[in-house]
Amino acid sequence: MLNRAINSNFVLLAIHMDILIKNGNIITSEYSVVNDVYIHEGKIHSIGKNLKHSATTRIVDASGKFVFPGGVDPHVHMCLPTPAGPSSDDFRTGSIAALYGGTTTLIDFVTPVKGESLPNALEKRKREAENSLIDYSFHVSPIEWHSGTRNEISDCFSNGITSFKVYLAYRKTVGLCDADFLKVLRTVGELGGIVTAHCELGEEIERLRDYYFSVNKTEPLYHYLSRPAEMESDSVKKAIALAQEAGCSFYVVHVSTKKSLFHIEEAKKKGQQVYAETCPHYLLLNNPPITGSFASAAPYIISPPLREPCDNEALWHAINKNVVSTIGTDHCPFNMEQKRAGANDFRSIPNGAGSIEYRLPLLYTYGVLGKKISINKMVDIFSTMPAKIFGLFPQKGCIAIGSDADIVIWNPDGSHSISLLNQHQHCDINIYNGLSVSGHAEYIVKGGEIAVNNDILFSSISRGRFLKRNRPEL
Ligand code: URP
Ligand code: ZN
Ligand code: ZN
Repeated sequence: MLNRAINSNFVLLAIHMDILIKNGNIITSEYSVVNDVYIHEGKIHSIGKNLKHSATTRIVDASGKFVFPGGVDPHVHMCLPTPAGPSSDDFRTGSIAALYGGTTTLIDFVTPVKGESLPNALEKRKREAENSLIDYSFHVSPIEWHSGTRNEISDCFSNGITSFKVYLAYRKTVGLCDADFLKVLRTVGELGGIVTAHCELGEEIERLRDYYFSVNKTEPLYHYLSRPAEMESDSVKKAIALAQEAGCSFYVVHVSTKKSLFHIEEAKKKGQQVYAETCPHYLLLNNPPITGSFASAAPYIISPPLREPCDNEALWHAINKNVVSTIGTDHCPFNMEQKRAGANDFRSIPNGAGSIEYRLPLLYTYGVLGKKISINKMVDIFSTMPAKIFGLFPQKGCIAIGSDADIVIWNPDGSHSISLLNQHQHCDINIYNGLSVSGHAEYIVKGGEIAVNNDILFSSISRGRFLKRNRPEL
């Protein structure tokens, strides 16, 4: 069937039909093999040579190209509400950026307002996500504990939400105290789900932030000085101990420092179900221009902050040791005008930066070509492990018969520089501006439809679906 499709520049014909990908180098988390993949009705129908196809099958020659499973980004924030306004990508624009970067599934968050029930907040968030072009789910965040919270978590669980996110930072808004965190851990542990946490010592950080402000230290530099690495690693250590006590699987989001890795590795050695995520910016960026002008420092106001080159190295090493299992982007872009909300008070700068479209190019260029990780490990942290940990495997995260036909055909040739002019995220800040990346996604297939071909988006593709997730497959 032929559908009309438009992107901002062109009117195109999007082709919805069976697809035969021929001679691609299929890369999974475990092996690499040159083979053909046949896609029928949105699923991977068969893998092998001389596969039967009809006269209407779209044949894609992938000789010399890599064939990866579509990416699963386990940590994104579309239109995250903040006092400076929502993060600047909504589910539609953010999912388009995701597609260009080979990500075909995202997991965002449900953060209720005080007094709102978790299932209610979940339903509202589902409606906000309806215009996503890629499949989606959510981690639900209890931000307070009351007599109904247990049942609310259980309700969300019955609706396919098997992971719950707790903020141990941000104590003045959404952060939980340790006692309530433990209640969440016990409840989710009994259900067989997983709790994820933003680990930073919330109360100590708030105290430091307020202290700096009170002595007229208002510049972005004090964002950094109020969030030292030990405040992350001490929080990680404490959270791991509480998860152990509660018997709950635990996942530390956006690990930024070598000091945290030590505690995660120790717990894993003892057999505890603890997992860690890091982000491209903690692998690749360090020592940002925080003492310069507001405009040069504000783009890098991210929590936890960027660290040192030795932390970058330790994180790459931890990926190879399976201490870090996934890469999430923590995609949370804000425009400069929004960042300016904190021009006179660093505490009001909205935290976050966008990068949903760069996970794959950065991992490929600086991870695989940079000889930090193997190409199979790249697939593991980009797609397979996020799918396994968050109960989406094998529907997502692999190239296997019966899996969703979410596929990236990656052309390793050529390179280009990331720039505000060629980005797809909606933001006037790009923390990777000027960085060179190699290769590009020649085709992105999503649910059996060609969504992107050589930079052209087929915007008539079906919208993404809400994914009901299973318990973690660990
Ligand atoms: O700075 C960040 N990371 N902003 C997004 C919210 C969070 O803490 O993940
Ligand atoms: Zn966070
Ligand atoms: Zn986040």
